Amino acid sequence: MTGPTKEFWEQRFAEGNTPWDRGASSPQLAAWLRSGVLKPCRILVPGCGSGYEVIDLALAGFEVTGLDYADEAIGRAHRRLEKADVDATLVQADVLAWQPDRAFDAIYEQTCLCALYPDQWREYADRLHRWIAPGGKLFALFMQWLREGAAEGNIQGPPYHCDVNAMRALFPEPSWAWPKPPYPRTTHPAGIAELAVVLERRG
Ligand SMILES: C[S@@+](CC[C@H](N)C(=O)[O-])C[C@H]1O[C@@H](n2cnc3c(N)ncnc32)[C@H](O)[C@@H]1O
Repeated sequence: MTGPTKEFWEQRFAEGNTPWDRGASSPQLAAWLRSGVLKPCRILVPGCGSGYEVIDLALAGFEVTGLDYADEAIGRAHRRLEKADVDATLVQADVLAWQPDRAFDAIYEQTCLCALYPDQWREYADRLHRWIAPGGKLFALFMQWLREGAAEGNIQGPPYHCDVNAMRALFPEPSWAWPKPPYPRTTHPAGIAELAVVLERRG
């Protein structure tokens, strides 16, 4: 298979080579919570990593499921949940193989899509569509990191750049309702940025 494997992510955690890890939740999560667009519900966090968002959502009264296939990600998230003394479900599984027993009201997608090789995006996007109940929302942070090699057609990552045109093709209307741009840009201490877009599942 082309692209990062489970072993790749395990190694990144084992080496402490986790530049995506803010050591805290994304400020965009707090912004969505403050604005009231994200209200307590049954929510999934795929590729949850160390679990900061899982914990903050649980503390805010959500019924949260965190999903990741890396041992250390799930281990870290478990330890944080215990320390915070808060309940959430953690599932260790591949996002391209797992199936929930029922749909979620919302999904918080932060740096899982951009961690997958683009050949896998269609499969993942179809799963996100199935995992959200009609009328439910996808809180997406689309990674913006267009690298130089793209000009020659090279696919570079992870993280893989999530161009907004590609995102429209993956999450097309009328299956999804898109808000009008411009979208908020969330910056990251590692120097990268994400576009924050809330999509509603329609079809
Ligand atoms: C770049 S990290 C982001 C972690 C977290 N969302 C954050 O922003 O801190 C990507 C995470 O996705 C997980 N991941 C990548 N591919 C996956 C897959 N196919 N199934 C489940 N988890 C996956 C990795 O183990 C890693 O924890």
